[in-house]
Amino acid sequence: MSVLDAHAGQHVPPSDPPLLNVRTVKTIHAVSVSSEMVPLAKSGGLGDVCGTLPPALQQVGCQVTCFLPAYRCALTSGLPIKPTPIAFTIPMGGKFVACRLLETALPQGQVPVYLIDQPQYFDRVGLYGDAHGEYRDNCERFCFFSRAVVEAIEQLGLTVDIVHCHDWQAGLVPALVRARYKQFRWMESARSIMTIHNLAYQGQFWHLDMPLTGLGWEHFHWQGMEFHGHLNLLKTGIVYADKITTVSPTYAREIMTPEQGCGLDPVLRQRRADLYGIVNGVDYSQWDPRCDRHIPHQYGPESWPEGKAACKLALQQELGLATSPGTPLVGIVSRLVDQKGWDLIVPLLERWGGTREIQWAILGTGEQRYERKLRELAARHAPHIGARLEFSEGLAHRIEAGADMFLMPSRFEPCGLNQLYSLKYGTVPVVNPTGGLADTVVDATPESIAAGTATGFHMAEYSLRGLEQAMERAIDVYTHQKSVWAQIVLRGMQEDWSWGRSAQQYRQVYEDTLAPRDRGRLPSTES
Ligand code: ADP
Ligand code: GLC
Repeated sequence: MSVLDAHAGQHVPPSDPPLLNVRTVKTIHAVSVSSEMVPLAKSGGLGDVCGTLPPALQQVGCQVTCFLPAYRCALTSGLPIKPTPIAFTIPMGGKFVACRLLETALPQGQVPVYLIDQPQYFDRVGLYGDAHGEYRDNCERFCFFSRAVVEAIEQLGLTVDIVHCHDWQAGLVPALVRARYKQFRWMESARSIMTIHNLAYQGQFWHLDMPLTGLGWEHFHWQGMEFHGHLNLLKTGIVYADKITTVSPTYAREIMTPEQGCGLDPVLRQRRADLYGIVNGVDYSQWDPRCDRHIPHQYGPESWPEGKAACKLALQQELGLATSPGTPLVGIVSRLVDQKGWDLIVPLLERWGGTREIQWAILGTGEQRYERKLRELAARHAPHIGARLEFSEGLAHRIEAGADMFLMPSRFEPCGLNQLYSLKYGTVPVVNPTGGLADTVVDATPESIAAGTATGFHMAEYSLRGLEQAMERAIDVYTHQKSVWAQIVLRGMQEDWSWGRSAQQYRQVYEDTLAPRDRGRLPSTES
């Protein structure tokens, strides 16, 4: 396995290597294809990563062009968007669907972004669904998006070395490139990379959607786009891409096991030589308490006790919690889905809510059953539990700044960004050490405390007991060992999880992908 283990196991906080001297390295032309990208569209960490990795890649000698659907939220994001003269139609099943290309640029780094403007598909309230659930035509929407991207590359005449595709919404693209869709010339030399941000979301649809892909039925077999009789777009990306990456070394190993492989572990094991794990980076221009414009008092490592105390008081007031400086305040910002450990958090809140001297600042949206439960618990224990069931960028930052600890008891976590933000804000993460959480948070043990490397608290097992014990340990240190707590806070704040190192690793994967070698044949049923 060629998993890049730079961050794994050794728990050495990364420091940025010097940037490459871009004059001495060959420029790599990359295209990024994703369904989210800050500041244009975001439902979770995918948006953070796809909006901040491209400028970091520019710093290491790549020239990146991004593609995104022209969602309603993107068109109203405030970035200046211009029309281009490019417009075309794509045959989708029995009809021709027209679109035009719009153009903008990411605020940092001069990264051009092209938006696929097809209002019937993308001018909607949500990215993937609304109050009634997932949109029923998601297969059609993202097959269209993928086919429009390769058409747009052709019409723009872009130079392309690497097409970098993120998650199932872009999973069709590697197959289009390998199959030389419409015989586009640039596909002869271009290579593709599939990045898996979350294996649990696969974009699986019934087989009769196959004509929407623009590829023939010869690709619909068990070593191609088919998965147990269905069309599976993430599997498509995994099978047809030249290389595969995921967002932490531990998750790269986990997804090859039956326990965490979501059914695709045999496919991933088959491609283990091409699978890399690279930890996500943080955009510290947005997520650093020294310059965060969303928080009431800015602070850094030298001023954290006063800065956090002021942010904590403001957060307690904002959420209607008792304004008590010494009560430990636990923050959670999370999608309300099973992945994030809500099946443990809810029983813990039920058990501790009214009895313990602990406060909770919770921000999340997601499954109705969890929203209902949180509303009920917050009403019952008002001075202790503040919950906001909405999407609020500002409150997410204020929770990072105002809380003393940050809880992420995820059942699985490909990388996780909130624990990385928490480290920088001096908000000690309490985590289940799975995936990226294992790679980025060092458990406070007597040894790691003595060595000065501790940055958080690990659950010993995924259970209510495991969660309770980890929380008890954290609260005990917070309450009774103030100097140890300060050491843990400071160590986290001093770590550097910015993109520099990870962008270098992506560049290395690009170089490996472009290294001359025989390209495999198209996947076929012959062995
Ligand atoms: P995931 O992508 O699985 O949701 P990550 O930890 O990688 O998890 O990233 C989550 C991102 O989404 C973070 O930037 C977090 O602050 C943000 N986020 C999640 N829920 C909300 C919310 N309700 N309001 C604002 N931001 C949110
Ligand atoms: C996914 C994962 C999360 C990761 C994010 C960005 O949403 O659930 O762990 O940080 O993608 O890669």
